[in-house]
Amino acid sequence: MEAYSRFNLLGSSEQFQKVLAKIHKLAALDATVLLSGETGTGKELAARAIHYLSSRADKPFVPVNCGALAESLIESELFGHERGAFTDAKTASNGLIGEAAGGTLFLDEVDTLSLKAQAALLRFLQDRTYRRVGGGTLRQVDVRVLVASNADLPERVQKRQFRQDLLYRLNVLSLHLPALRDREGDAGVLARAVLQRLSHQYRLPLKQLHAEGLAFIQRYGWPGNVRELENIIHREFLMSDDTELRLRESCEALMGAAVPQVDIDSTDAPFRDAKANAVAEFERSYVRAMLVRTGGNISQAARLSKQERSAFGKLVRKYKLGGFEGQVA
Ligand SMILES: Nc1ncnc2c1ncn2[C@@H]1O[C@H](COP(=O)(O)OP(=O)(O)OP(=O)(O)O)[C@@H](O)[C@H]1O
Ligand SMILES: [Mg+2]
Repeated sequence: MEAYSRFNLLGSSEQFQKVLAKIHKLAALDATVLLSGETGTGKELAARAIHYLSSRADKPFVPVNCGALAESLIESELFGHERGAFTDAKTASNGLIGEAAGGTLFLDEVDTLSLKAQAALLRFLQDRTYRRVGGGTLRQVDVRVLVASNADLPERVQKRQFRQDLLYRLNVLSLHLPALRDREGDAGVLARAVLQRLSHQYRLPLKQLHAEGLAFIQRYGWPGNVRELENIIHREFLMSDDTELRLRESCEALMGAAVPQVDIDSTDAPFRDAKANAVAEFERSYVRAMLVRTGGNISQAARLSKQERSAFGKLVRKYKLGGFEGQVA
């Protein structure tokens, strides 16, 4: 446990202890690793631990969120470009691969790479050589590549959105981060650790978990995993006046977000009105639950809901739920 505390990888469940043991093993092997697991399960944290426990620890760890890079720029971001390679290329650039020389390049959301970028990555993984965009010379660099994805990659291969040969190449070594709900007892351990960290960070007195709060933490399914847990504890830590957190508001928002029931005795409203009311009630509690889960982050909440950000933002305004934004510092 000690060796991992500096990477903040916490968890005492058997499931997570197995993950820690595997991280140690993978750190000693200088090969590509595919990290998988739902959102918020700690893929990036695990990748960092693999790097810092490896012989490359004193060289750079370069994380790249492939999903956040514009498709037209991704190759030049990764492999660099020569001066004049395209209109804005006023100077040559080394690229992220060049920056990671001797160290580790961590490609997050690798499934979002275009097929063209996938081909370039495959070429690089095969012989560690690459060319800058607009540059003729073949360059060589010693970089370990770790990749992560929370997509179903074999399914992407079937749909021809992901190259099968690249998947084979990436999948030689793999590490699966279990969902928080499958890690027995860890949600409580993590919640207490987050409370400790927050009291240090804000220089505020420590708060404890009330038995009622702990019961909610253990019962809830945590679809957003550790990140969701951190968001909720963070908000309750700052907003609650109690020294023992019962997490009632989060519990109500997340577990009470069921579809409203029809009250037969009071169904004298026309069907259309009754339905509109029920839909509005559902929308309100759904949007509120998503905002609680993401600590008020509208973009993240929209992504989880598989809604356009603008459409989701409209609902937030409609139900005047914008206040959630300001609740997490
Ligand atoms: N085992 C753990 N112990 C302590 N904190 C953790 C653990 N796992 C994850 N976290 C925390 O949860 C948050 C999410 O972790 P991370 O960014 O590594 O997840 P991820 O799997 O990369 O998520 P995504 O798929 O959304 O990118 C971070 O703040 C991280 O510090
Ligand atoms: Mg990540």
